[in-house]
Amino acid sequence: MALKFPIFMDAQSTTPVDPRVLAAMIPYFTEKFGHPASRNHPFDWEAEGAVDSAREKIARLIGARDPKEVVFTSGGTESINLALKGVAEMYKEKGNHIVTTVIEQRAGLDVCKRLERQGFAVTYVPVQADGLVDVARIREAITDKTILISVMFANNEVGTIQDVAAIGKLAKEKGILFHTDATQAVGKIPVDVEAMGVDLLSCTAHLVYGPKGVGALYVRRKGPRVRLAPMMDGGGHERGMRSGTLPVPLIVGFGRAAELCMEGMVEEGKRLAALRDRLQDAILSKVEDAYLNGHPERRLPQNLNVSFAYVEGESVLMGVNKETALSSGSACTSATLEPSYVIAALGASTELAHSSIRFSLHRFTTQEEVDYVTQRMIEVIKRLRDMSPLYELAKEGVDIKSIQWKAE
Ligand SMILES: Cc1ncc(COP(=O)(O)O)c(C=O)c1O
Repeated sequence: MALKFPIFMDAQSTTPVDPRVLAAMIPYFTEKFGHPASRNHPFDWEAEGAVDSAREKIARLIGARDPKEVVFTSGGTESINLALKGVAEMYKEKGNHIVTTVIEQRAGLDVCKRLERQGFAVTYVPVQADGLVDVARIREAITDKTILISVMFANNEVGTIQDVAAIGKLAKEKGILFHTDATQAVGKIPVDVEAMGVDLLSCTAHLVYGPKGVGALYVRRKGPRVRLAPMMDGGGHERGMRSGTLPVPLIVGFGRAAELCMEGMVEEGKRLAALRDRLQDAILSKVEDAYLNGHPERRLPQNLNVSFAYVEGESVLMGVNKETALSSGSACTSATLEPSYVIAALGASTELAHSSIRFSLHRFTTQEEVDYVTQRMIEVIKRLRDMSPLYELAKEGVDIKSIQWKAE
């Protein structure tokens, strides 16, 4: 099949809506447009039924016992805000300490920063070189004032998958609530809030081939019953935790997207892991001084993150971006030219943190696309290095770190 450009390999930033998801959504814009919370007439009942059905599908995908535990929000960012701020406000008499990690997505880190300004104490647990957080470090960070542990399920840049079940077990043992930002994990790998001891879980539709603008927060109802202070006051929708008329077409889309993930996740994961390995093996074997970031095995199947020494990630993107959509650092920070804080947190040098490229494959990625991108990467990296005086010096055996840069 002829290649279609640009090739999209940035699926950890967002995904295209699956046509089957779009087809499910369309009637809810024009024909089935009732108000799901009004319950006055058949239009409303139909909308309410559609929301309930979507809620069930999402509950099933994450292993929730009761669909009522799924609270709809506008996306991952809002879910994380509601979880962290909602717990902080509700449980502040019990304690003022939160444990999280240094590699959370910006939504998690920024909420923690705000809570610190409001008098909460936050411990940011470091991660190992492979991106895994050592559960013993979380245990050490816990104090008698700790009310919440918040650790992301899988990282958005390097794809490393945390030992969520072990963290859930620790949280239960200590009687502390556990939130996980599972935005990147849900629909890609098995997620089970019951088996993993998760009390709060954030996810979003636009990373699972659903629409943008809708997400969910799982809020445990039993063992323990989690209570949250709402961020918005209003009609008391979503069990009082998130007021506002629900976006029925988006929710229907999210439900259908969840259903498709449920049906195809295992096969899709295998297919994408095989393509990802093909990309990884070709790049790492053909480009010298290229380093894999993150855990080699405990990683999302569609994720590959590589640092190419002696080249800037931004220059690589500029070299390929007419025909290939990739990402350097996290999508949310690539507007600024700061090195990736995630890669830096794994212990990489600033240079390597600046030179990371994330490839993320998706449901519609083909082998031809993978092979084309491989070839282009090899060419672009070679061209950039041929122009780089640093690379030339390094090849002559000069230790780049020993260079004394002349002050202005
Ligand atoms: C790990 C992680 N958390 C949270 C978010 C934010 O989700 P949303 O874009 O739905 O607000 C993202 C978005 O990519 C993410 O990757």
